[in-house]
Amino acid sequence: MSQEKRTILVTSALPYANGPIHIGHLVEYIQTDIWVRFQRLRGHDCRYVCADDAHGTPIMLRARQQGITPEALIAASAIEHQADFAGFRVGFDNYHSTHSNENRLFSEQIFERNQAAGHITSRTITQAYDAQENMFLPDRFIKGECPKCGAADQYGDNCEVCGSTYSPTELKNAVSAISGTTPVEKETEHLFFKLTDFEDMLKEWTRAGHLQPEVAHKVQEWFADGLQEWGISRDAPYFGFEIPGHPDKYFYVWMDAPIGYMASFQNLCERSDDLNFDDYWNRDSSAELYHFIGKDIINFHALFWPAMLSGAGYRTPSAIYAHGFLTVDGQKMSKSRGTFIKARTYLDHLNPEYLRYYFAAKLGSGVDDIDLNLDDFVARVNSDLVGKVVNIASRCAGFINKRFEGRLDDSCSEPGLYRSFVDEGDAIAADYENRDFGHAIRKIMTLADRANQYIDANKPWVLAKQEGEEQTVQAVCSTGLNLFRVLVTYLQPVLPAMASDVEAFLNLPAMTWDAIDTPLTGHTINKFKPLMTRVEQEKIDAMLEDSKDSLAGQATPAEPASGPLGKDPIAETINFDDFAKLDLRIARITRAAHVEGADKLLQLTLDIGGESRNVFAGIKSAYAPEALEGKLTVMVANLAPRKMRFGISEGMVLAAGPGGKDLFVLHPDEGAEPGMRVK
Ligand code: 2FM
Ligand code: ZN
Repeated sequence: MSQEKRTILVTSALPYANGPIHIGHLVEYIQTDIWVRFQRLRGHDCRYVCADDAHGTPIMLRARQQGITPEALIAASAIEHQADFAGFRVGFDNYHSTHSNENRLFSEQIFERNQAAGHITSRTITQAYDAQENMFLPDRFIKGECPKCGAADQYGDNCEVCGSTYSPTELKNAVSAISGTTPVEKETEHLFFKLTDFEDMLKEWTRAGHLQPEVAHKVQEWFADGLQEWGISRDAPYFGFEIPGHPDKYFYVWMDAPIGYMASFQNLCERSDDLNFDDYWNRDSSAELYHFIGKDIINFHALFWPAMLSGAGYRTPSAIYAHGFLTVDGQKMSKSRGTFIKARTYLDHLNPEYLRYYFAAKLGSGVDDIDLNLDDFVARVNSDLVGKVVNIASRCAGFINKRFEGRLDDSCSEPGLYRSFVDEGDAIAADYENRDFGHAIRKIMTLADRANQYIDANKPWVLAKQEGEEQTVQAVCSTGLNLFRVLVTYLQPVLPAMASDVEAFLNLPAMTWDAIDTPLTGHTINKFKPLMTRVEQEKIDAMLEDSKDSLAGQATPAEPASGPLGKDPIAETINFDDFAKLDLRIARITRAAHVEGADKLLQLTLDIGGESRNVFAGIKSAYAPEALEGKLTVMVANLAPRKMRFGISEGMVLAAGPGGKDLFVLHPDEGAEPGMRVK
């Protein structure tokens, strides 16, 4: 069973620092974590690193929208992401950020080495420019009508209605998604990575078994289309690293993101006595390096990344493992159906190991999408984990605890049966190794069925009532628990928390794959505690309800739960002290804008006498933004800031009226000045 000890470094793709982790992301982190835990269970030295992907225009703009610095935004995201991953038992050895010193140094070094080797070139290109915001516009920040089907409000790179792709210059009536103004064309000089220099190297590398067969096949199509030079610089303003020797030019987020894998590992090395960066990343390294990614980012990992590494004198990855996307009940995750489920919302309702198990049961080695069918989820977890696996222990433990003071039989009464369970280990290990987790789970559940059949056939609950059968009861239940131990060892990569509870129950040190070679005999176990409860449909329903994009879920006073004036038109009385706490001010609306994705909200910038506030107000039904700019309103200025889906709201605008078009927020202008208190 034992093999030579391997030295392995594993990564998952770095999540962007401007949004929460959701169950779609979790397919990858759970897949990777299972693989890593499997390697460790087999006794290999396997390190797992990740980081937040902290750079780029969307993060810069999101921070601006929230009225905070990008640094503050990414710091908050790092905390949330790590709490979510920990909740799902994704056990990184290190979680870092691409906005780190290590990443700056490696990005500069990899750029400079490629430049010195002649792999960087520069040329002037024409790009869309927002003259009001003084910035070049990425394709995703230009909107207009699709040149093919005429659909309104489409992004500059592809149409979500007819699916066609095009360049932003082809959009009709294009506007900047940031300011709403019409973009102009402007020339700018940019740096390009000469991917074409690596064509031979990449052809050889992509055909040498580092990619899944279907991925390798896809990449060959890209070769046939011809490789292009890759633009690696972006103009200021940009949140990222300035490029050495090129003032006001920044590394494109996708240039420094994969370098974040190295940076996170370097950061881990700085804290670990037993790790040496060069042992893993030098050209002649014997360590194995694996990147788990989604199928949408194959080009970055299978072309640009090995080329950049090779151009800078580093080793290339041992393999790239791509997976498919997640659907829920056969459809794309949807906010209105409540199936866009955030990691945190899931954790508020359900045991993370249910999802780890379900994903494992569905995952294969290819890039097929996987479906979370919620009825199947409930049925499978309840039947397999609770009904089959945990059931073995709960049927046997009571007899051993109560009648034999927790002591297992002195010998194994069914060596043939036990051996057949252990012998299945090699095939299960091969499935895990190949990321065929679904096959591994099927084999394990077949064994669980056999263990239950063995207990059914021997009926310890009947024997226990018969005289002279004491020893047989101990023998049968000890065998049951030994088979259970083998099964839980096989499931440990998928269910680490349950496995650790089983270690406590069976009174064992940390499980290893090799340890099951010998059954437990004459060994004393601890009291049995329930290891897993059934999934309850009500919890699923509550999770879906919490995930619905209802206004109630994220209401601020400006976006009330029912009707523009709030939930309950008959207000509760408040005392004078409560009233006196309100700081009501005259505010001038200096800017009003639509909020992408919000039906009722406008985003207002309010001037309250030299101080500016960002407020989201549910008044879109009554006002066009341009009708508000320059006007006065009354706001509650001392309301604690509230985080909404679209940003932080720093106050509340007062409104009167029945709602819809009749909703009045403006204050007569005469004599009022921004900042004045309203008495
Ligand atoms: O697609 C994404 O979500 C990227 N943030 C993944 C980056 S992976 C690596 F290259 F950093
Ligand atoms: Zn279209």
